[in-house]
Amino acid sequence: MEHVTAGNSFAALAYLVAGVCFILALRGLSSPATSQRGNRFGMIGMAIAVVTTLVTHIPMQGVGLVLEGPQGTVAATGPLFERIDLIAVLEILAAIGLGAVIGIVTARRIAMTAMPQLVAAFHSLVGLAAVLVAVAAYLNPMAFGIAQMVIPMIGDPFAVINPVSKVEMGLGAAIGAITFSGSVIAFLKLNGNMSGKPILLPARHAINLAVLATILLLVAQFAHTQDGWPFWVLLALSFVIGFLLIIPIGGADMPVVVSMLNSYSGWAAAAMGFTLHNTAMIITGALVGSSGAILSYIMCRAMNRSFLSVIAGGFGAEAASGGGEAKEQRPWKRGSADDAAFLMQQAEQVIIVPGYGMAVAQAQHVLREMADKLKEHGVRVKYAIHPVAGRMPGHMNVLLAEANVPYDEVFELEDINSEFAQTDVAFVIGANDVTNPAAKTDKSSPIYGMPVLDVEKAKTVLFIKRSMGGVGYAGVDNDVFYMDNTMMLLADAKKMVEEIVKALD
Ligand code: TAP
Repeated sequence: MEHVTAGNSFAALAYLVAGVCFILALRGLSSPATSQRGNRFGMIGMAIAVVTTLVTHIPMQGVGLVLEGPQGTVAATGPLFERIDLIAVLEILAAIGLGAVIGIVTARRIAMTAMPQLVAAFHSLVGLAAVLVAVAAYLNPMAFGIAQMVIPMIGDPFAVINPVSKVEMGLGAAIGAITFSGSVIAFLKLNGNMSGKPILLPARHAINLAVLATILLLVAQFAHTQDGWPFWVLLALSFVIGFLLIIPIGGADMPVVVSMLNSYSGWAAAAMGFTLHNTAMIITGALVGSSGAILSYIMCRAMNRSFLSVIAGGFGAEAASGGGEAKEQRPWKRGSADDAAFLMQQAEQVIIVPGYGMAVAQAQHVLREMADKLKEHGVRVKYAIHPVAGRMPGHMNVLLAEANVPYDEVFELEDINSEFAQTDVAFVIGANDVTNPAAKTDKSSPIYGMPVLDVEKAKTVLFIKRSMGGVGYAGVDNDVFYMDNTMMLLADAKKMVEEIVKALD
């Protein structure tokens, strides 16, 4: 097989174009208005990178032998000619076809609410791919062009892998394995196959640091000696540490973990890009690695958590009350769709606060209809989006965009929070944690310190959820339910809004 390089200038140019497409994709994805264009750039870039890699690495097979030797002897000096290895090409095409079918079917079937676990599952595959490439490169370094063959005076010839490649392989394999096992745990937790509660081992910080330090020492040992044992042991320890790092992290911190694993998968791919001398992999890996790291940082800021405290884990270990008294002993007011329609018709401004429940109920389309009706009645309508509302970054923005809500009616937390005090109605639809004032006042609450939307400051709060018993993601009660100016609208979000639309008619 031809060894894996992007040696010719055509490939280098094509990879550069693919890299530019990826940068344009990220740029486009930064706003809902340009996100479709961004996605298209991403697809074009990926198609260019895949086709270039395939075309420059067509598997070849030697045919026949040139037989010649000094002084009448006969020796084989190499293949007579090379031809395309059709079986290998078919294997590659079959793998691409299978992957494409699985990808298309999964993407079409997946519910929007299950997107975070899908992303975690995909990251685990990136991690596993990095591990497999590292193992293949270790077992057959000549095929990857990262070694020189040494023919000793005594004994068999052997391949000496370049020291830099060994560091890249060691680090790539380690990061890939951590990404793999960490993503599998994140998937199981998000998918509900494993409790979202943190699992706290005694002395876990000391254990984790010791294992990480050992992995680094093993990378150094592998680079120094090229022995097999440090490579295999570092791989096994990396699988274990990925597991140990994620089990203490609670459900509420999972979005940060998924984005952090996204970043790891990027760095693993970049490290393997160096091993394979593949510019496209280096560029893509670095883009994924750095954008994942930036997203993790932004999400930590939105939840008022430090990155280190997220990694250290333990968030949400104790079941917190967060809302003071037991909920059933506190009085609350129930309203109907007619009440809600009446109150909103009278309002000058309504701020809609969507959350996870809107996504579950798929209420975004009827919500836009309701907003249109209110606007016909001369009411000003705005949407307030909390950065971690829902279950993934940008979850609410995507749903509202799908329902053709105008972008200029959608506001980020910091731009709209001061407006609640001058607003007649805060219409909370399936959001809970992101409106919980305990985050501002109750130091014992697991969400203490997270910036929240000040819905309680509005003249009236209309709060849609299905039951008083249901809690949000962090599992805490919400004082807003029991306030004098709150009217609870207990029903499925879509049904309730449909009834409100009828009442507005
Ligand atoms: P949550 O706090 O999870 O609250 C969801 C609310 O929706 C609950 O009150 C629930 O009450 C209600 N609900 C569920 N299904 C409903 C339906 N069909 N109709 C009407 N209501 C329904 O949501 P949030 O305010 O959006 O906060 C998000 C939380 O998830 C935060 O804690 C955040 O940290 C965490 N998180 C965020 C992300 C990202 S990146 N966005 C990822 C993972 C986790 P009932 O059960 O009573 O109906």
